[in-house]
Amino acid sequence: MAAPVPAFASRDPLSPGFWDERFEQAFTPWERGGVAQGLRKFVARTPGPLSALIPGCGSGHELACMMEASWDATAIDFSPAAVQIARAGVGQWAGRVVEADFFAYAPPRQLDLIYEQAFLCAMPPSMWPRIAARWAELLPSGGLLAGFFFFGESPKGPPFGIERAALDALLLPEFECIEDSEVADSLPVFAGKERWMVWRRR
Ligand SMILES: C[S@@+](CC[C@H](N)C(=O)[O-])C[C@H]1O[C@@H](n2cnc3c(N)ncnc32)[C@H](O)[C@@H]1O
Repeated sequence: MAAPVPAFASRDPLSPGFWDERFEQAFTPWERGGVAQGLRKFVARTPGPLSALIPGCGSGHELACMMEASWDATAIDFSPAAVQIARAGVGQWAGRVVEADFFAYAPPRQLDLIYEQAFLCAMPPSMWPRIAARWAELLPSGGLLAGFFFFGESPKGPPFGIERAALDALLLPEFECIEDSEVADSLPVFAGKERWMVWRRR
């Protein structure tokens, strides 16, 4: 039987407090406790090192995976609780975890890649155009938006699923899709509904 959902004071996923509460009470169904195969394989086969940003990093395991491949990566999150957990978990890379709001954060260097994992779906559909616009703003032509996208209708998120046509409408004006594949190691909350995708900035 699934564990009962704790009573939370914050219902607004646009507020850092919403995420703080969930991290503090260890109610984190999106937490993999490691790195997804799709990212591991991508890092291994991509000529690097790349300059990468992980927005909404949560516990940030992906940062260590990228840094171990000599990438120049930064993980950001606007939840102080998430930042604390990430810094404690990534060991020598703790200095690469920054408390910042994705919409305000200015990377110190030109990015080659933005990593997406349970960030778009953490926000309601009304925010998606802003996220896509910021992705496009932060990436130069040829830059990559890579990661996992959560599909389907789930109006009571997070996670908020997106329909494929809606994702295309959001991204195709500024990106082309260059990889789209099934995911074998999804967490239960995303199983059968997520795909590994790479989008290249036009
Ligand atoms: C569903 S969790 C996913 C965490 C991580 N990406 C993972 O897959 O384990 C969403 C994360 O995005 C963060 N977040 C939401 N809005 C944000 C924003 N505007 N700027 C930075 N982080 C944000 C939350 O604090 C939370 O850690």
